[in-house]
Amino acid sequence: MNFTNKTVIITGASAGIGKVLAIKLAQQGANLVLAARNKTSLETTARECIQKGGQAIAVPTDVTNSEACQKLIEASLAAFGAIDCLVNNAGIGMSVRFDEIKDLSIFEKIMKVNYLGSVYCTYYALPHLKNSRGLLVAISSLTGKTGVPTRSGYAASKHALQGFFDSLRVELRGTGVDVLVVSPGFVATDIRQRILGADGTPVKATLDNEEQKAMSAEVCVDLILKAMSDRKRELVMTLKGKLGLWLKLLAPNLIDSIAANAVSSQNAKS
Ligand SMILES: NC(=O)c1ccc[n+]([C@@H]2O[C@H](COP(=O)([O-])OP(=O)(O)OC[C@H]3O[C@@H](n4cnc5c(N)ncnc54)[C@H](OP(=O)(O)O)[C@@H]3O)[C@@H](O)[C@H]2O)c1
Repeated sequence: MNFTNKTVIITGASAGIGKVLAIKLAQQGANLVLAARNKTSLETTARECIQKGGQAIAVPTDVTNSEACQKLIEASLAAFGAIDCLVNNAGIGMSVRFDEIKDLSIFEKIMKVNYLGSVYCTYYALPHLKNSRGLLVAISSLTGKTGVPTRSGYAASKHALQGFFDSLRVELRGTGVDVLVVSPGFVATDIRQRILGADGTPVKATLDNEEQKAMSAEVCVDLILKAMSDRKRELVMTLKGKLGLWLKLLAPNLIDSIAANAVSSQNAKS
């Protein structure tokens, strides 16, 4: 898939992976529709995209609101006349053991952003993606493949995302619409500044030793772009992540130990 003059909607485009993806697609001459809540940051991304040679509009959107998602799709059509790709990337994380949680609404918040937001945007975009024989992308996580301590609600939301898009992929056979699920490992973004703690508010975690080795957002986005352009069904990042898929089948206790060690050696990851 070549992205020149193609219209790509990206949720969570005000920061991190979504922002880098928008800028790299702009360099290829794509039309970007940028969604997130922070209007100022979104407009900054849009300006950078235009400077890089793409067209871009900022559409402030809270993906937990289905009407806002519908308006996002309408704004995309009004600006560019078609939709070729929807990247469901908006997400929030958590870092707290289940038995230490003080505010149960954390589960609802995470599910609404990470899972339902993608369902809403996909629902309204799908008829237009069928017209263009386009591409649906979900940015999940390795935590969508296996359980991780202190990430119970996050892992649940990413497992839900995986199950939803795996099901939709089968339903969409023969329509020309492809579905790509991306599972990154640790990526060096500011997501840790926003991860929710025991009382449901951000804990403003910083990178610890292990996380200093996280993949850069640029490398992560290059891998995503290659998978998008090849219209792959799945992108699992890192050798550890790929081996983990097999290990989970062969030695699930070993995977649990790896997940436990990964989190005990670092207090805050997505
Ligand atoms: N970084 C990692 O280590 C890592 C690893 C695996 C998977 N991922 C996944 O990759 C995706 C991007 O993560 P990131 O690291 O780039 O995080 P990030 O830097 O925190 O960016 C998250 C983006 O989501 C947006 N967002 C949050 N809540 C939203 C809402 N209610 N409505 C619309 N937009 C919302 C944020 O914008 P506003 O605040 O302006 O709304 C921001 O643009 C997420 O789905 C995350 O789970 C990340």
